[in-house]
Amino acid sequence: MRNFTSVYDIGDLKVALQKAFEIKKNRFGFSDLGKNKTLLLIFFNSSLRTRLSTQKAGMNLGMNTMVLDVNQGAWKLETERGAIMDGDKTEHLLEAIPVMGSYCDIIGVRSFARFENKEEDYSEKVLNEFIQYSGRPVFSMEAATRHPLQSYADLITIEEYKKTERPKVVLSWAPHPKALPQAVPNSFAEWMNTTDYEFVITHPAGYELDAQFAGKAKVEYDQKKAFEGADFIYAKNWAAFADPNYGKVLNKDRSWTVDSEKMALTNNAYFMHCLPVRRNMIVTDEVIESPQSIVIPEAANREISAQAVLMRLLEDNF
Ligand code: CP
Repeated sequence: MRNFTSVYDIGDLKVALQKAFEIKKNRFGFSDLGKNKTLLLIFFNSSLRTRLSTQKAGMNLGMNTMVLDVNQGAWKLETERGAIMDGDKTEHLLEAIPVMGSYCDIIGVRSFARFENKEEDYSEKVLNEFIQYSGRPVFSMEAATRHPLQSYADLITIEEYKKTERPKVVLSWAPHPKALPQAVPNSFAEWMNTTDYEFVITHPAGYELDAQFAGKAKVEYDQKKAFEGADFIYAKNWAAFADPNYGKVLNKDRSWTVDSEKMALTNNAYFMHCLPVRRNMIVTDEVIESPQSIVIPEAANREISAQAVLMRLLEDNF
């Protein structure tokens, strides 16, 4: 594996899961693998879990880890080639990337969709420039269209908690005051579609995901019907994908909030969310604090997915 940007890079999911469980049993058993290797984590956007879990994973492997918040302390970066740089942007990303690459061995990048230009977002311009110009293996820490480290952790969590071989997993849109990217639901759908789980997506009309990610999932516009018999409810907000509403909030309908009444329709389902979550918009206090909520072990598995990916990058490239 040279880069990790989607489920297609990781190969056989059964092997990836075996590796994850091996790491979970013995996360400090590979501490020589990253010796004298430097991990650089670049954040164009905020983070709690990704920042900490990926640093921890690097430390478990004996790596030296550096973190750069591009918007706090670095020079303001221009991303458009051809721009006349007579404004407030001091450095071009096309110089910054190879310079960053010269100081490290592996680079993680977080760069969200900007919702200014759909084609630019969905072409993963920034992530691909890191792949093209850094000279280093690159992994996504959530890009414009996918969040594969999160989805890998979600898969590990489902495998740990599932009570049947082929659980019913429901991805449910839920309301949020601001426009959020489709990266988490896109990526979750892509990973779920790679398993043999029963996978259903429920959302109000107008929130259809890009078909390349929704894939073979059943789309059910009646949220309560979707919840019936579910083993896992994965809640998430996302902004509209389809034109002419790309990046827009079409409604904040709190009748889509995940509450105890809806959870009672399920097969005693576990509640999942990637976090951060807005309580009483996405999910009620009662549901997220219930014994069926597994959001904390789900977040803890981010360390495991990050370590599994870093191990593959170290093993395959050095
Ligand atoms: N789930 C997730 O990626 O969390 P952060 O945005 O805090 O990193």
